[in-house]
Amino acid sequence: MTKPKVLDLFCGAGGASMGFVKAGFDVVGAVDADATALDTYETNLCNKDLDSYPGSVSFDEPLQADLSREYEDAKVGGDLPSVTFGDILEFFDLESGEVDVICGCPPCQNFSSLRDTEPWPDGKPKDSLLRAFVEHVQEEVPDFVVFENVSNIMNAGDDFPGAYVDWLIRQMETTTREGDSEDVGGYGHDLRVVNAADYGVPQKRKRTIGLFAYGAPNEDVRLPEATHAKNPPRDSNLNEWKTVRDTIRRDDLKEDLELGQKQVGIDGYPDDPAHRARRHRKSTVEMAEAIRKHGGSWMDLRGTDEEHRIKKCHEDRESGASSAYGIMEWDEPAPTLTTKCTTPSSGRFTHPSQNRGITFREAALLMDFPRWFELPSRNEDAETVVGNAVPPTLITKVAEEIRTSRQRHTTVTQ
Ligand SMILES: C[S@@+](CC[C@H](N)C(=O)[O-])C[C@H]1O[C@@H](n2cnc3c(N)ncnc32)[C@H](O)[C@@H]1O
Repeated sequence: MTKPKVLDLFCGAGGASMGFVKAGFDVVGAVDADATALDTYETNLCNKDLDSYPGSVSFDEPLQADLSREYEDAKVGGDLPSVTFGDILEFFDLESGEVDVICGCPPCQNFSSLRDTEPWPDGKPKDSLLRAFVEHVQEEVPDFVVFENVSNIMNAGDDFPGAYVDWLIRQMETTTREGDSEDVGGYGHDLRVVNAADYGVPQKRKRTIGLFAYGAPNEDVRLPEATHAKNPPRDSNLNEWKTVRDTIRRDDLKEDLELGQKQVGIDGYPDDPAHRARRHRKSTVEMAEAIRKHGGSWMDLRGTDEEHRIKKCHEDRESGASSAYGIMEWDEPAPTLTTKCTTPSSGRFTHPSQNRGITFREAALLMDFPRWFELPSRNEDAETVVGNAVPPTLITKVAEEIRTSRQRHTTVTQ
C-alpha cells in the first residue's frame, strides 16, 4: 500500500509532522506563519535523513504564509501573503484530490486556561482561524482530517459553552464532495480531550483531538485506545506512564550544569547546544532551594522561615499560579509544557534535583521530540517552538488508527 499523503497546516516546528513520519505517512506539505518555527521544521524534517523512519517528508522547504483567509482578526502581521488552498497545492506541486489527510492545529491562545485571567479584547471574534481551517479543508475534502487544540475549546463559545466544537462538528458533518449527497458524504468523527501521558508521552498534556473520516458513521471513527496509565491494573495490557526520570536522566545529558552552561566541549558528553541552562537571578535560585527544602511549590513556604520569599503577586491568591516556581517530580510525567517551559517563574519547570529550569533539550525530550532534533539558538524561540508543539507520539497513534481504518475500507471495497 502506498504511503498516505498528509498536509500539515499550522505546522509549527513539526511535532505533528514528526508523528506522521513515525507512523509511515508521507508529509507532502506544511504551512505556518512563523519564520523561526519553519526554520526549525526545515532543519529537522526537510534537511535530515529520515530513512530510519517508515514515513517521509517530500518537499525541500515548508511554506511561510498566512492561513487566515483574510479574516481580519486572525491575520498575522508583516507582509505575509494570505494563501488559498489552491496556492498551497501549487507551492507543493500537488493535484487537487491528492491529499489523504489534512492535519491542523489552529492556534489556541484564545481558549487557553492560562489566559483566563486576561480579558479578551472587546468585539474580537475568537474563532476565525478555526473557520479558516475548515474552509481550507472544504476545498480539498480529504479522506481524513486530524484536529488538535487546547482542552478548553470543549467549553468555549460566545453563544453557549461548547459552541465552537459544535460548530466544527456541524461543518464537518455537512461537508461533501461534488456529486455526493450528505448521506454519502460528510465526516464522521471522534473528538474528545485526551491526556498525552496515556499514550506514552512523558507529559500530562490534555488536548482536544478530533479525528474526522469522510463518509464514515461516527461509530466507525475511533481515536486510539490508551496504551499507558498511572497505575495500570495487573490484568491489563497498559504500561505505566512514562516519567521525567525515564526521559531526562540519561548518560548523554549532564545533569549538574552550571547556570548559563551549554553541553558543548564537556568531557564525557556529546556536544548538544540545546542542553543549556538558563542564567537565573540569584533570587530565583534561592527560591528553588527554599521550595525544595519545604515541598514542591511556593505555597509550601507559607508558615516557614522562608515565607518572605513568596512573591507579592502570588500571596493574595488562593490557587492561581500555584505552579509558579514549582519543582518537577522525577517519578511523574512532566506537567503541561508551555511556551515558557524553561522559565521557573512560569510554572512547575524547575529541574527535579537541580536548582535551575529544565534545559531546552530536556523540554524537547519531555515533549517527545527525538534526541537529534535541533532547536533554535535563542532561548525564547527554543522554548516557544517546543511549548507550542503537539507531542509526535500522540499523533503517531492517531495516524495508526487512520491506517487501520484505510485497510478496513480497502478490504470492504475489494
Ligand atoms: C499550536 S502551534 C502548532 C504546533 C504544530 N502543529 C506542532 O505540532 O509543532 C500553532 C501555530 O499556528 C501558527 N499560526 C498562527 N496564526 C497563523 C496564521 N494566521 N497563519 C499561519 N500560521 C499561523 C503559529 O505560528 C504556530 O506555529
